Amino acid sequence: MKKIKFIHVGLGSYSFQRLEILKKNKNFQLVGIVDKDRKLLKKLNKKEKKIFFRSISQAKKKVDAEACFIYVSANQHAKLVIESLKNDLNTFCVKPLALNSVDFKKIIKIKKKKKLILVQGQNNQWNDASLEMKKIINDKKLFGKFNLGYCIIWGRQVLLSKNARVDTKTDGSFFHSMACHQLGQLVACLGLPKSVYCKSSPGGLKSIGYNKTSRTGSGNIIFDYGNGKYFNYVGNRTGHGNPKGFAARWSGEWMFGGSKGDLRRLGGRITFFSDGMIKKDTYLQDVDDFQKLDDARQYENFYDALKLKKNYIEKQSLDTWILMEACNISSREKKIVNINSLRKFLGLNK
Ligand SMILES: NC(=O)c1ccc[n+]([C@@H]2O[C@H](COP(=O)([O-])OP(=O)(O)OC[C@H]3O[C@@H](n4cnc5c(N)ncnc54)[C@H](O)[C@@H]3O)[C@@H](O)[C@H]2O)c1
Repeated sequence: MKKIKFIHVGLGSYSFQRLEILKKNKNFQLVGIVDKDRKLLKKLNKKEKKIFFRSISQAKKKVDAEACFIYVSANQHAKLVIESLKNDLNTFCVKPLALNSVDFKKIIKIKKKKKLILVQGQNNQWNDASLEMKKIINDKKLFGKFNLGYCIIWGRQVLLSKNARVDTKTDGSFFHSMACHQLGQLVACLGLPKSVYCKSSPGGLKSIGYNKTSRTGSGNIIFDYGNGKYFNYVGNRTGHGNPKGFAARWSGEWMFGGSKGDLRRLGGRITFFSDGMIKKDTYLQDVDDFQKLDDARQYENFYDALKLKKNYIEKQSLDTWILMEACNISSREKKIVNINSLRKFLGLNK
């Protein structure tokens, strides 16, 4: 199968790691590297230095590419996603695609006009444990119909570095940069709820970098799936420890109650109960440190969307953005957010 020629944006710490993962992928071929900071050229080898550019538009003038991967600061995402789409590139941008509904609407408008594929990158979702949870919940014979459930995440994310501080200063960053890791898994298991009601206390622990900016540290949510079916979420990234280790802290403790069985997940451990008995009890690969495995699988899914037209990942990731933003709107405006109305408002009804 023909390789997908791609441009990669971002040569920072996480972004450079993602470039290394992509370079190892046999389905993708690196044709351009973009960073606004020229000093980072030193990270590249001789061949790569020749395909270094300062912007996506500059790169696109010189190289033939089909896709673009964007890994830069969240406040640059919407602008760069639009630039990428305008340059006729199928676009993969690390979460969040946009920081607000106005920017997201602009993105969707151009995406539809250009008929390109757009994916919000989000890991914690492609490891074995997360995939098994999704498989069981979607197995009607085993699990039956969803009745109720919860997800709890509890960890400590120190945001004292200069780079991380943008998160502590941006209203809504809890849902846009943290809760998204569980909301993506929830969408994979149950799809979008009918409505969302969310509360969030301002900020969190000062000693690890948080101030009083709203919706940056934690959140409590009720998702309403209709007919008396509810899912609850409690998330906190400003806790006093990382009881499940650094990366796995974001995987979540989950319970899904179904008409035929109940699933419990604690990080990589998944237990399935039915008729008062344990039917399955497994330890699986949970999210790996640096999410290299998770992201490698995610890139395979992006490839399938582009080449095999198996476009599961686009809808799932755009729906996840809607859920992230619904939490922010609900908390900010102190109201229940109807998801269908929000979808329509954002231009995603068709
Ligand atoms: N688990 C996860 O999903 C996860 C984990 C860590 C980081 N991230 C995200 O990945 C992104 C990148 O992280 P990082 O550690 O590489 O950040 P970084 O700040 O170290 O690097 C970002 C790079 O992008 C460049 N850049 C910024 N704006 C640009 C623009 N307009 N055009 C071209 N280049 C631009 C900067 O010069 C810098 O080199 C961030 O959005 C971060 O939130 C996600």
